[in-house]
Amino acid sequence: IIVNKKGLQFIMNNYLDLKNIKAFSEYSKLEEAGQIIRNGGLVLFPTETVYGLGANGLNSEAVKNIYVAKGRSSDNPLILHISDIEMLGKIAKDISDVEFKLMNAFWPGPFTIILNKTDAVPSVVAGGLDTVGVRMPNNEIAKNLIKYADVPIAAPSANISGRPSGTNVEDIDQELKDRVDYIIDGGECQIGVESTVVRVIDGIPHILRPGKITAEEIKEVAGSVIIDKHILGKLDANEKVMSPGMKYKHYAPNTKCVLVYNDDKEILRANICKTVGDCYTSNKVPLVICLDENAEFLKNMYQNLQIFNLGSSLDEMSKNIFTDLRKADKTNADLIIIQGVSTDGLGLAIMNRLLRACNFNIIR
Ligand code: TXA
Ligand code: MG
Repeated sequence: IIVNKKGLQFIMNNYLDLKNIKAFSEYSKLEEAGQIIRNGGLVLFPTETVYGLGANGLNSEAVKNIYVAKGRSSDNPLILHISDIEMLGKIAKDISDVEFKLMNAFWPGPFTIILNKTDAVPSVVAGGLDTVGVRMPNNEIAKNLIKYADVPIAAPSANISGRPSGTNVEDIDQELKDRVDYIIDGGECQIGVESTVVRVIDGIPHILRPGKITAEEIKEVAGSVIIDKHILGKLDANEKVMSPGMKYKHYAPNTKCVLVYNDDKEILRANICKTVGDCYTSNKVPLVICLDENAEFLKNMYQNLQIFNLGSSLDEMSKNIFTDLRKADKTNADLIIIQGVSTDGLGLAIMNRLLRACNFNIIR
Protein backbone atom coordinates (compact mmCIF):
# COMPACT_ATOMS: atom_id res chain seq x y z
CA ILE A 1 0.00 0.00 0.00
CA ILE A 2 1.31 3.43 -1.01
CA VAL A 3 0.22 6.54 0.92
CA ASN A 4 0.42 9.91 -0.80
CA LYS A 5 0.56 13.48 0.48
CA LYS A 6 -3.23 13.71 0.74
CA GLY A 7 -3.24 10.65 3.01
CA LEU A 8 -4.97 8.54 0.35
CA GLN A 9 -4.00 4.88 0.41
CA PHE A 10 -3.30 3.29 -2.93
CA ILE A 11 -3.82 -0.34 -3.76
CA MET A 12 -1.65 0.08 -6.82
CA ASN A 13 -0.72 2.66 -9.42
CA ASN A 14 -1.25 1.64 -12.98
CA TYR A 15 -2.02 2.86 -16.49
CA LEU A 16 -3.99 1.11 -19.22
CA ASP A 17 -3.82 2.36 -22.79
CA LEU A 18 -7.09 1.68 -24.66
CA LYS A 19 -6.77 4.55 -27.13
CA ASN A 20 -6.72 2.36 -30.22
CA ILE A 21 -9.03 -0.57 -29.61
CA LYS A 22 -9.05 -2.89 -32.63
CA ALA A 23 -11.06 -5.86 -31.38
CA PHE A 24 -13.92 -6.16 -28.96
CA SER A 25 -11.95 -8.79 -27.01
CA GLU A 26 -9.54 -6.05 -25.87
CA TYR A 27 -12.16 -4.78 -23.43
CA SER A 28 -11.34 -7.82 -21.28
CA LYS A 29 -8.23 -5.86 -20.24
CA LEU A 30 -10.64 -3.88 -18.04
CA GLU A 31 -11.07 -6.80 -15.66
CA GLU A 32 -8.20 -5.61 -13.46
CA ALA A 33 -9.56 -2.04 -13.23
CA GLY A 34 -12.99 -3.47 -12.45
CA GLN A 35 -11.52 -5.42 -9.55
CA ILE A 36 -9.75 -2.34 -8.24
CA ILE A 37 -13.09 -0.51 -8.21
CA ARG A 38 -14.85 -3.36 -6.48
CA ASN A 39 -12.05 -3.55 -3.89
CA GLY A 40 -12.31 0.12 -2.98
CA GLY A 41 -9.77 1.79 -5.31
CA LEU A 42 -10.05 4.95 -7.42
CA VAL A 43 -9.98 4.64 -11.22
CA LEU A 44 -9.78 7.43 -13.79
CA PHE A 45 -11.85 6.37 -16.82
CA PRO A 46 -13.30 7.84 -20.01
CA THR A 47 -16.99 8.34 -20.76
CA GLU A 48 -18.56 9.89 -23.86
CA THR A 49 -18.91 13.24 -22.03
CA VAL A 50 -15.82 13.80 -19.86
CA TYR A 51 -13.42 11.61 -17.87
CA GLY A 52 -14.72 10.32 -14.55
CA LEU A 53 -12.99 9.70 -11.23
CA GLY A 54 -14.66 6.45 -10.24
CA ALA A 55 -15.09 4.34 -7.12
CA ASN A 56 -17.38 1.57 -5.88
CA GLY A 57 -20.68 3.45 -5.44
CA LEU A 58 -21.87 1.11 -2.69
CA ASN A 59 -18.72 1.48 -0.56
CA SER A 60 -18.75 4.66 1.52
CA GLU A 61 -15.02 4.52 2.38
CA ALA A 62 -14.12 4.32 -1.32
CA VAL A 63 -16.52 7.15 -2.16
CA LYS A 64 -15.06 9.36 0.58
CA ASN A 65 -11.70 9.06 -1.21
CA ILE A 66 -13.26 10.66 -4.31
CA TYR A 67 -14.11 13.78 -2.30
CA VAL A 68 -10.58 13.89 -0.85
CA ALA A 69 -8.89 13.34 -4.22
CA LYS A 70 -10.94 16.10 -5.91
CA GLY A 71 -10.99 18.47 -2.96
CA ARG A 72 -14.76 18.44 -3.37
CA SER A 73 -17.22 19.71 -0.83
CA SER A 74 -18.97 16.77 0.87
CA ASP A 75 -22.47 18.20 0.30
CA ASN A 76 -22.08 17.99 -3.50
CA PRO A 77 -23.53 14.58 -4.49
CA LEU A 78 -22.10 12.15 -7.04
CA ILE A 79 -23.64 10.42 -10.03
CA LEU A 80 -23.91 6.61 -9.99
CA HIS A 81 -23.01 5.07 -13.35
CA ILE A 82 -24.71 1.82 -14.35
CA SER A 83 -24.15 -0.52 -17.29
CA ASP A 84 -27.59 -2.11 -17.51
CA ILE A 85 -31.11 -1.49 -16.31
CA GLU A 86 -30.95 -4.36 -13.76
CA MET A 87 -28.57 -2.25 -11.67
CA LEU A 88 -31.19 0.49 -11.36
CA GLY A 89 -33.56 -1.34 -9.02
CA LYS A 90 -30.87 -1.72 -6.39
CA ILE A 91 -30.14 2.02 -6.11
CA ALA A 92 -33.38 3.86 -6.99
CA LYS A 93 -37.07 3.47 -6.08
CA ASP A 94 -40.55 4.91 -6.77
CA ILE A 95 -39.69 5.59 -10.42
CA SER A 96 -42.50 7.30 -12.34
CA ASP A 97 -43.66 6.77 -15.93
CA VAL A 98 -42.16 10.04 -17.12
CA GLU A 99 -38.84 9.08 -15.56
CA PHE A 100 -38.89 5.69 -17.29
CA LYS A 101 -39.77 7.37 -20.57
CA LEU A 102 -36.78 9.71 -20.30
CA MET A 103 -34.37 6.91 -19.39
CA ASN A 104 -35.69 4.85 -22.30
CA ALA A 105 -35.18 7.73 -24.70
CA PHE A 106 -31.72 8.86 -23.61
CA TRP A 107 -29.91 5.82 -22.17
CA PRO A 108 -27.23 4.85 -22.75
CA GLY A 109 -26.14 8.44 -23.18
CA PRO A 110 -25.24 11.83 -21.70
CA PHE A 111 -28.32 11.99 -19.48
CA THR A 112 -28.46 11.89 -15.66
CA ILE A 113 -31.72 11.56 -13.78
CA ILE A 114 -32.23 12.36 -10.10
CA LEU A 115 -34.28 9.61 -8.44
CA ASN A 116 -35.28 8.62 -4.91
CA LYS A 117 -32.43 6.56 -3.54
CA THR A 118 -32.64 3.19 -1.78
CA ASP A 119 -30.82 2.39 1.46
CA ALA A 120 -28.17 0.54 -0.57
CA VAL A 121 -26.79 3.93 -1.67
CA PRO A 122 -24.48 5.29 1.03
CA SER A 123 -25.31 8.77 2.23
CA VAL A 124 -21.85 10.10 1.16
CA VAL A 125 -22.77 9.39 -2.49
CA ALA A 126 -25.93 11.48 -2.14
CA GLY A 127 -24.21 14.30 -0.26
CA GLY A 128 -26.73 13.69 2.53
CA LEU A 129 -29.80 14.05 0.25
CA ASP A 130 -32.43 11.31 -0.14
CA THR A 131 -32.02 11.29 -3.92
CA VAL A 132 -29.35 9.92 -6.24
CA GLY A 133 -28.24 10.90 -9.73
CA VAL A 134 -28.08 7.92 -12.11
CA ARG A 135 -26.57 7.68 -15.58
CA MET A 136 -25.91 4.88 -18.06
CA PRO A 137 -22.95 6.09 -20.14
CA ASN A 138 -22.64 5.37 -23.84
CA ASN A 139 -18.97 4.48 -23.98
CA GLU A 140 -17.66 0.93 -24.36
CA ILE A 141 -14.80 1.39 -21.89
CA ALA A 142 -17.11 2.84 -19.23
CA LYS A 143 -19.75 0.17 -19.81
CA ASN A 144 -17.25 -2.70 -19.63
CA LEU A 145 -15.57 -1.22 -16.58
CA ILE A 146 -18.91 -1.13 -14.74
CA LYS A 147 -19.67 -4.69 -15.86
CA TYR A 148 -16.35 -5.99 -14.55
CA ALA A 149 -16.72 -4.00 -11.32
CA ASP A 150 -20.23 -5.45 -11.02
CA VAL A 151 -21.29 -2.47 -8.89
CA PRO A 152 -22.56 1.00 -9.82
CA ILE A 153 -19.60 3.36 -10.17
CA ALA A 154 -19.80 6.71 -8.37
CA ALA A 155 -17.94 9.24 -10.50
CA PRO A 156 -17.67 13.00 -10.70
CA SER A 157 -15.86 14.68 -13.57
CA ALA A 158 -12.11 14.06 -13.34
CA ASN A 159 -10.61 17.37 -12.27
CA ILE A 160 -9.61 19.12 -9.09
CA SER A 161 -12.77 20.91 -7.88
CA GLY A 162 -13.29 24.26 -9.59
CA ARG A 163 -11.05 23.47 -12.57
CA PRO A 164 -12.23 22.66 -16.11
CA SER A 165 -13.32 19.03 -16.52
CA GLY A 166 -10.88 16.61 -18.14
CA THR A 167 -11.65 15.46 -21.68
CA ASN A 168 -8.34 13.67 -22.31
CA VAL A 169 -5.76 12.06 -20.02
CA GLU A 170 -2.91 14.47 -20.86
CA ASP A 171 -4.93 17.39 -19.44
CA ILE A 172 -5.56 15.81 -16.03
CA ASP A 173 -2.60 13.49 -15.62
CA GLN A 174 -0.54 16.00 -13.65
CA GLU A 175 -3.27 17.05 -11.22
CA LEU A 176 -4.70 13.59 -10.56
CA LYS A 177 -2.09 10.90 -11.16
CA ASP A 178 -0.89 10.86 -7.55
CA ARG A 179 -4.47 10.66 -6.33
CA VAL A 180 -5.80 7.60 -8.16
CA ASP A 181 -4.93 3.90 -8.25
CA TYR A 182 -5.41 3.35 -11.94
CA ILE A 183 -5.71 5.39 -15.13
CA ILE A 184 -7.55 4.17 -18.21
CA ASP A 185 -6.65 6.17 -21.30
CA GLY A 186 -9.43 6.04 -23.90
CA GLY A 187 -8.28 9.06 -25.90
CA GLU A 188 -10.41 12.16 -26.35
CA CYS A 189 -14.02 12.28 -25.13
CA GLN A 190 -16.47 12.67 -28.00
CA ILE A 191 -18.91 15.14 -26.42
CA GLY A 192 -16.73 17.23 -24.13
CA VAL A 193 -19.37 18.71 -21.78
CA GLU A 194 -20.94 16.79 -18.91
CA SER A 195 -24.30 15.05 -19.02
CA THR A 196 -27.66 16.82 -18.80
CA VAL A 197 -28.94 16.53 -15.21
CA VAL A 198 -32.73 16.31 -14.85
CA ARG A 199 -35.12 15.98 -11.96
CA VAL A 200 -38.79 15.26 -12.60
CA ILE A 201 -41.16 17.15 -10.29
CA ASP A 202 -44.93 16.60 -10.59
CA GLY A 203 -44.38 14.98 -13.97
CA ILE A 204 -42.36 17.90 -15.37
CA PRO A 205 -38.63 17.49 -16.11
CA HIS A 206 -36.50 20.29 -14.66
CA ILE A 207 -33.06 20.72 -16.19
CA LEU A 208 -30.61 21.31 -13.31
CA ARG A 209 -27.52 21.20 -15.50
CA PRO A 210 -27.72 21.47 -19.30
CA GLY A 211 -25.70 19.07 -21.46
CA LYS A 212 -25.64 17.32 -24.81
CA ILE A 213 -29.26 16.14 -24.43
CA THR A 214 -31.07 19.42 -25.04
CA ALA A 215 -34.19 21.01 -23.51
CA GLU A 216 -35.84 20.66 -26.92
CA GLU A 217 -35.19 16.88 -26.99
CA ILE A 218 -36.48 16.43 -23.44
CA LYS A 219 -39.62 18.37 -24.21
CA GLU A 220 -40.27 16.15 -27.20
CA VAL A 221 -40.21 13.06 -24.97
CA ALA A 222 -41.98 14.37 -21.85
CA GLY A 223 -44.26 17.01 -23.35
CA SER A 224 -42.85 19.77 -21.19
CA VAL A 225 -39.58 20.98 -19.71
CA ILE A 226 -38.41 23.66 -17.27
CA ILE A 227 -34.91 25.12 -17.39
CA ASP A 228 -33.81 25.98 -13.86
CA LYS A 229 -33.18 29.72 -13.59
CA HIS A 230 -29.75 29.21 -12.05
CA ILE A 231 -28.39 27.69 -15.25
CA LEU A 232 -27.61 31.09 -16.75
CA GLY A 233 -27.87 33.21 -13.61
CA LYS A 234 -25.63 33.96 -10.70
CA LEU A 235 -26.61 32.67 -7.26
CA ASP A 236 -27.38 35.07 -4.45
CA ALA A 237 -25.70 34.24 -1.15
CA ASN A 238 -27.65 31.58 0.79
CA GLU A 239 -30.11 31.02 -2.06
CA LYS A 240 -31.72 27.53 -2.00
CA VAL A 241 -30.85 25.37 -5.01
CA MET A 242 -32.15 22.08 -6.36
CA SER A 243 -28.68 20.83 -7.19
CA PRO A 244 -25.75 21.52 -4.85
CA GLY A 245 -23.34 21.70 -7.81
CA MET A 246 -24.89 25.04 -8.76
CA LYS A 247 -23.34 26.68 -5.71
CA TYR A 248 -19.73 26.04 -6.46
CA LYS A 249 -17.08 27.69 -8.56
CA HIS A 250 -16.62 25.73 -11.75
CA TYR A 251 -14.66 25.21 -14.93
CA ALA A 252 -12.33 28.15 -14.29
CA PRO A 253 -8.83 28.55 -15.70
CA ASN A 254 -6.35 30.43 -13.47
CA THR A 255 -6.11 33.27 -15.99
CA LYS A 256 -8.84 35.92 -15.89
CA CYS A 257 -11.60 35.30 -18.49
CA VAL A 258 -14.25 37.45 -20.11
CA LEU A 259 -17.18 36.21 -22.19
CA VAL A 260 -18.32 38.24 -25.20
CA TYR A 261 -21.72 37.62 -26.72
CA ASN A 262 -24.36 39.33 -28.80
CA ASP A 263 -27.10 37.92 -31.08
CA ASP A 264 -25.86 40.35 -33.72
CA LYS A 265 -22.69 38.90 -35.25
CA GLU A 266 -21.29 42.33 -36.16
CA ILE A 267 -21.68 43.69 -32.63
CA LEU A 268 -20.19 40.50 -31.19
CA ARG A 269 -17.13 40.85 -33.43
CA ALA A 270 -16.80 44.56 -32.69
CA ASN A 271 -16.90 43.82 -28.96
CA ILE A 272 -14.16 41.22 -29.28
CA CYS A 273 -12.04 43.74 -31.19
CA LYS A 274 -12.70 46.44 -28.59
CA THR A 275 -11.65 44.08 -25.76
CA VAL A 276 -8.49 43.09 -27.65
CA GLY A 277 -7.75 46.77 -28.26
CA ASP A 278 -8.22 47.61 -24.57
CA CYS A 279 -5.68 44.91 -23.69
CA TYR A 280 -3.12 46.36 -26.09
CA THR A 281 -3.61 49.90 -24.73
CA SER A 282 -3.03 48.70 -21.18
CA ASN A 283 -0.06 46.51 -22.15
CA LYS A 284 -1.91 43.28 -21.39
CA VAL A 285 -1.59 40.13 -23.49
CA PRO A 286 -4.97 38.93 -24.83
CA LEU A 287 -5.88 35.46 -26.04
CA VAL A 288 -9.10 34.93 -27.99
CA ILE A 289 -11.02 31.63 -27.97
CA CYS A 290 -13.65 31.69 -30.71
CA LEU A 291 -15.35 29.96 -33.60
CA ASP A 292 -13.93 29.67 -37.13
CA GLU A 293 -15.79 32.67 -38.55
CA ASN A 294 -14.23 35.07 -36.05
CA ALA A 295 -10.85 33.34 -35.93
CA GLU A 296 -10.25 34.03 -39.62
CA PHE A 297 -11.29 37.64 -39.28
CA LEU A 298 -9.15 38.29 -36.20
CA LYS A 299 -6.10 36.61 -37.71
CA ASN A 300 -6.20 39.07 -40.59
CA MET A 301 -6.86 42.00 -38.33
CA TYR A 302 -4.15 41.44 -35.67
CA GLN A 303 -0.93 39.78 -36.82
CA ASN A 304 0.36 38.72 -33.41
CA LEU A 305 -2.88 37.93 -31.62
CA GLN A 306 -3.04 34.47 -30.04
CA ILE A 307 -6.23 32.73 -31.16
CA PHE A 308 -7.65 29.31 -30.27
CA ASN A 309 -10.10 28.17 -32.92
CA LEU A 310 -12.94 26.09 -31.39
CA GLY A 311 -14.19 24.89 -34.78
CA SER A 312 -17.28 25.73 -36.77
CA SER A 313 -20.14 24.00 -34.92
CA LEU A 314 -21.57 23.74 -31.40
CA ASP A 315 -20.52 20.07 -31.33
CA GLU A 316 -16.90 20.97 -32.07
CA MET A 317 -17.08 23.81 -29.59
CA SER A 318 -18.30 21.55 -26.76
CA LYS A 319 -15.65 18.99 -27.60
CA ASN A 320 -12.81 21.53 -27.46
CA ILE A 321 -13.84 24.04 -24.84
CA PHE A 322 -12.43 22.46 -21.66
CA THR A 323 -9.13 21.46 -23.20
CA ASP A 324 -8.75 24.96 -24.70
CA LEU A 325 -9.45 26.61 -21.33
CA ARG A 326 -6.68 24.48 -19.85
CA LYS A 327 -4.32 25.25 -22.75
CA ALA A 328 -5.01 28.96 -22.29
CA ASP A 329 -3.42 28.79 -18.84
CA LYS A 330 -0.19 27.57 -20.44
CA THR A 331 0.14 30.71 -22.60
CA ASN A 332 1.41 34.10 -21.45
CA ALA A 333 -2.08 35.64 -21.76
CA ASP A 334 -3.29 38.11 -19.12
CA LEU A 335 -6.88 37.95 -20.34
CA ILE A 336 -8.79 35.16 -22.05
CA ILE A 337 -11.51 36.57 -24.30
CA ILE A 338 -14.11 33.91 -25.11
CA GLN A 339 -16.79 34.12 -27.75
CA GLY A 340 -20.26 33.14 -26.50
CA VAL A 341 -23.05 31.49 -28.51
CA SER A 342 -26.86 31.52 -28.60
CA THR A 343 -28.46 29.39 -25.86
CA ASP A 344 -30.49 27.25 -28.29
CA GLY A 345 -29.85 23.49 -28.23
CA LEU A 346 -26.35 22.53 -27.09
CA GLY A 347 -25.60 26.26 -26.82
CA LEU A 348 -27.31 26.31 -23.40
CA ALA A 349 -24.77 23.83 -21.99
CA ILE A 350 -21.85 25.73 -23.53
CA MET A 351 -23.02 29.08 -22.14
CA ASN A 352 -23.66 27.54 -18.71
CA ARG A 353 -20.00 26.39 -18.58
CA LEU A 354 -18.57 29.60 -20.07
CA LEU A 355 -20.48 31.93 -17.75
CA ARG A 356 -19.00 30.08 -14.80
CA ALA A 357 -15.50 29.92 -16.29
CA CYS A 358 -15.73 33.73 -16.63
CA ASN A 359 -17.36 34.19 -13.22
CA PHE A 360 -20.36 35.82 -14.98
CA ASN A 361 -18.10 38.52 -16.41
CA ILE A 362 -19.85 39.10 -19.76
CA ILE A 363 -19.75 41.85 -22.38
CA ARG A 364 -22.96 42.03 -24.44
O1 TXA B 1 -21.15 13.61 -17.77
C1 TXA B 1 -21.16 13.56 -16.55
O2 TXA B 1 -22.20 13.72 -15.88
C2 TXA B 1 -19.82 13.30 -15.82
C3 TXA B 1 -19.34 11.91 -16.23
C4 TXA B 1 -18.11 11.47 -15.48
O3 TXA B 1 -20.38 10.98 -16.09
N1 TXA B 1 -19.97 13.41 -14.41
C5 TXA B 1 -20.12 14.61 -13.79
O4 TXA B 1 -20.21 14.54 -12.40
O5 TXA B 1 -20.16 15.66 -14.37
P1 TXA B 1 -20.03 15.81 -11.45
O6 TXA B 1 -20.00 15.24 -10.09
O7 TXA B 1 -18.88 16.61 -11.87
O8 TXA B 1 -21.36 16.61 -11.62
C6 TXA B 1 -22.59 16.09 -11.13
C7 TXA B 1 -23.59 17.18 -10.94
C8 TXA B 1 -23.23 18.09 -9.80
O9 TXA B 1 -23.52 19.41 -10.18
C9 TXA B 1 -24.14 17.63 -8.68
O10 TXA B 1 -24.46 18.67 -7.78
C10 TXA B 1 -25.37 17.12 -9.43
O11 TXA B 1 -24.86 16.59 -10.63
N2 TXA B 1 -26.04 16.07 -8.67
C11 TXA B 1 -25.60 14.82 -8.42
N3 TXA B 1 -26.47 14.14 -7.64
C12 TXA B 1 -27.50 14.97 -7.39
C13 TXA B 1 -28.71 14.88 -6.62
N4 TXA B 1 -29.02 13.78 -5.95
N5 TXA B 1 -29.52 15.97 -6.58
C14 TXA B 1 -29.20 17.09 -7.27
N6 TXA B 1 -28.08 17.25 -8.00
C15 TXA B 1 -27.24 16.21 -8.06
MG1 MG C 1 -17.74 18.37 -12.31
